[in-house]
Amino acid sequence: MSTEPLVVFEAIDKFYDGSTKVVDNLHLQIERGEFLTLLGPSGSGKTTILMMLAGFEAPSRGTILFDGKPLNNVPTYKRDFGIVFQNYALFPHMTVAENLAFPLRMRGIGKSEITDRVRRTLDMVKLGALGDRMPTQLSGGQQQRVALARALVFEPRMVLMDEPLGALDKQLREHMQLEIKRLHEELGIAMLYVTHDQSEALTMSDRIAVFDKGRIQQIGAPEEVYANPTSTFVASFMGENNRLDARVRELRDGVALLQVAEGGPVIHALPVDAGLAAGASATLMLRPESLHIGRKEGAENACAGRVTDLVYHGDHVRLGVTIEGMGTLVARYPVDDRGPAVAPGDTLTVSWSARHMRAFAG
Ligand SMILES: Nc1ncnc2c1ncn2[C@@H]1O[C@H](COP(=O)(O)OP(=O)(O)OP(=O)(O)O)[C@@H](O)[C@H]1O
Ligand SMILES: [Mg+2]
Repeated sequence: MSTEPLVVFEAIDKFYDGSTKVVDNLHLQIERGEFLTLLGPSGSGKTTILMMLAGFEAPSRGTILFDGKPLNNVPTYKRDFGIVFQNYALFPHMTVAENLAFPLRMRGIGKSEITDRVRRTLDMVKLGALGDRMPTQLSGGQQQRVALARALVFEPRMVLMDEPLGALDKQLREHMQLEIKRLHEELGIAMLYVTHDQSEALTMSDRIAVFDKGRIQQIGAPEEVYANPTSTFVASFMGENNRLDARVRELRDGVALLQVAEGGPVIHALPVDAGLAAGASATLMLRPESLHIGRKEGAENACAGRVTDLVYHGDHVRLGVTIEGMGTLVARYPVDDRGPAVAPGDTLTVSWSARHMRAFAG
């Protein structure tokens, strides 16, 4: 098998109006068999990128290569991609089985093979018994599975999905995330997936490309992007963070010592940007789950604080801990079978490692 990437976006710009770059100099490769997710806030250009790959929109500048060949003049139907959108758009006047047969008939496949493939694909998405139903007789999740089956049935060269689970409730969405992931592993086919839901991206992807304003802000494996964000944008978009303004006092052994406020505690943090020399202003980010209640062995940072807020979430509580000269930090605290051992008004020590607190320039 070829080792060159399946898809290459080369210096892609997209304008709709001649002035605003909706996609700005995109360089992106999708590997064979990869599950790549485009993650970003509304309007960051995700759908536009998918539409350009699908052939529904043309790039304003640059080239998209598929299997080493430019796609510029290849019409949508010849690209042979399975596509799933948020509003699944099944043909309402056709049964489930006929919906799946449609792309096969378009490709001139014979009757018996169509019957065969439709049955196999319906089984794959666990809808084997519902082939004769009309789309209106299905639940939202079942309709979405039909849409997925219809995108897979003709053995496409790649699958593109744009917020395919957006219309489903949380439980069904989480179930379908695992279903899609299972299908991806089973079929080994490359998938490009668009979502603005960071937990969905973390659950499903081999790699995540985090977008803002038409540009990739960071790309990498889920663990990498979550644990080592390279900007405050990515840090705050991927999960929750405590955010503090500070000033660098000095750098010592690769750790930044920072002052949060006049007379406040000195904080140890991992510098992320090269510009963090002594005197520079910095933004500190710390995830609630990285804040330890009590004194953690080896933690460089420990402060006394008072519990000013406590919200129960079943498996954990969220504490607001107010530290003098620093403000209030949010901590996640696991609840064991004795229930939360802290109460509002308690004073306690919180501690955290320098490597869990990231210092960004500015
Ligand atoms: N057909 C169009 N004509 C003009 N502007 C458009 C068109 N489609 C999208 N845009 C603009 O391009 C930008 C990117 O839109 P896009 O749909 O790619 O964002 P997105 O990341 O998919 O957002 P969402 O999460 O809301 O779906 C937006 O500012 C949008 O208003
Ligand atoms: Mg979109």
